[in-house]
Amino acid sequence: MKGLTINLMSEKDIEQVVEIEAVSFLNPWGALSFLTELSCENAHSFILRLKKGKSDKDDPVVAYLCFRVIIDMMHILKIAVKPEHRRRGIAYAFLTECLESFSRREIKAAFLEVRESNTAGMGLYQKLGFHIIGKRPGYYTDTWEDAILMQKNLERRV
Ligand SMILES: CC(C)(COP(=O)(O)OP(=O)(O)OC[C@H]1O[C@@H](n2cnc3c(N)ncnc32)[C@H](O)[C@@H]1OP(=O)(O)O)[C@@H](O)C(=O)NCCC(=O)NCCS
Repeated sequence: MKGLTINLMSEKDIEQVVEIEAVSFLNPWGALSFLTELSCENAHSFILRLKKGKSDKDDPVVAYLCFRVIIDMMHILKIAVKPEHRRRGIAYAFLTECLESFSRREIKAAFLEVRESNTAGMGLYQKLGFHIIGKRPGYYTDTWEDAILMQKNLERRV
């Protein structure tokens, strides 16, 4: 990803992450939810920085990704890109890189829930090769919207 760097999310990034979160989700997580992810053993949280300054700390966060690994399954919880950087292939490249890296760690599949109305999210996951495997009726209690359950096989064929 030219001009972008992937790093582990740290406490110092949470302020910027929460700003992106607030404009990306109907029911956004607060700082405490991200802090919980950072302290959880099976949770993995990454940020994407736009290379600008001389040192990493000057570079703004433009996207983040949170997932958990449950035995050999990756459960994607969050991905968001700063609105002004969307539709440039950032989420696709970011997730492709992480899925590739975790498929080398014996992770068999990745799954997630996405709001039925989230055409951007559904389009992204379909482009990445996720398939619809089910529906959770009324999963999102703020609007009682259904969640679409999607999965991608990550097993490598030899
Ligand atoms: C969903 C989201 C992460 C996509 O990020 P992005 O960097 O703009 O996505 P990309 O540019 O990598 O797009 C990859 C594919 O996703 C789909 N897509 C992305 N945005 C879309 C939109 N607004 N409408 C329809 N399809 C869209 C397209 O299939 C696109 O491929 P294409 O450009 O060849 O058509 C971003 O819109 C976002 O942060 N949304 C708010 C948070 C969210 O809904 N996250 C997902 C649920 S957890």
